[in-house]
Amino acid sequence: MTISDSTVAIIGAGNIGSRLGANFAAGGQDFLLAGRDQDATRKIASDLDGHAEAVSVDEAVERADVLLIAVWLDAFEQLIAQYGPRLAGKVIVDPTNPVGPDGAGGYRKVIGEQESSGQILAGLLPPGARLVKAFGTLSAPSLSAAARQEPDRAVLFYAADDEAAGDLVAELIRAAGFDPVRVGGLDQSIRIEMFGDLHEYGALGRVVTKSEALKAI
Ligand SMILES: NC(=O)c1ccc[n+]([C@@H]2O[C@H](COP(=O)([O-])OP(=O)(O)OC[C@H]3O[C@@H](n4cnc5c(N)ncnc54)[C@H](OP(=O)(O)O)[C@@H]3O)[C@@H](O)[C@H]2O)c1
Repeated sequence: MTISDSTVAIIGAGNIGSRLGANFAAGGQDFLLAGRDQDATRKIASDLDGHAEAVSVDEAVERADVLLIAVWLDAFEQLIAQYGPRLAGKVIVDPTNPVGPDGAGGYRKVIGEQESSGQILAGLLPPGARLVKAFGTLSAPSLSAAARQEPDRAVLFYAADDEAAGDLVAELIRAAGFDPVRVGGLDQSIRIEMFGDLHEYGALGRVVTKSEALKAI
């Protein structure tokens, strides 16, 4: 299966979901867009040159082969609890950074220091769901500003245990205007989540191109 014969959906039409939607549309990638506020979701979709179809979350789960779930970790966990077995067989893309406000204008981790949301979600998904950690390594403004960067594309790191699922998401990363670089399996998720050594808001500290990324890994 390739991305061109897969149905892709973004669930969550907030900051990241809508920016990724714009990136996909600019790359000619068609997708379903599902939010809780259907009017707001329709409005976002209608500005994307026919590449996005606004649907309910139920319909996205029903129709999509690849579900990019652009919501916060707690909402992601609730969606898994709600849809459980219906996610089996699907590629599930996790962009979450397990952080919340630190009360001083910054962010703090909301899970254990050595935990990653990628591994927590992998443990909650039903057998057969194919989780890929991706699209969370850059801040929202960089996701927009660095898409289709010239002369060398900016990198989005991803982690996957399922190689075929990872390859599909790599295609999606290219459609969004970035170079995909795999860091390894889901046990490497922590490195590409916020505060990780390969995150823009972590030790890496910036947007990188592929040659820089390969040195950093
Ligand atoms: N912001 C960043 O710079 C950044 C960068 C990388 C990764 N991320 C990650 O991306 C995820 C989303 O972040 P964000 O900045 O886009 O947050 P956001 O602007 O708050 O958007 C989250 C969206 O999730 C929707 N949502 C919540 N529960 C839902 C459900 N059950 N079904 C459908 N939609 C649901 C919310 O809808 P309602 O409006 O109805 O609540 C909202 O539109 C987070 O996990 C975050 O860690 C963020």
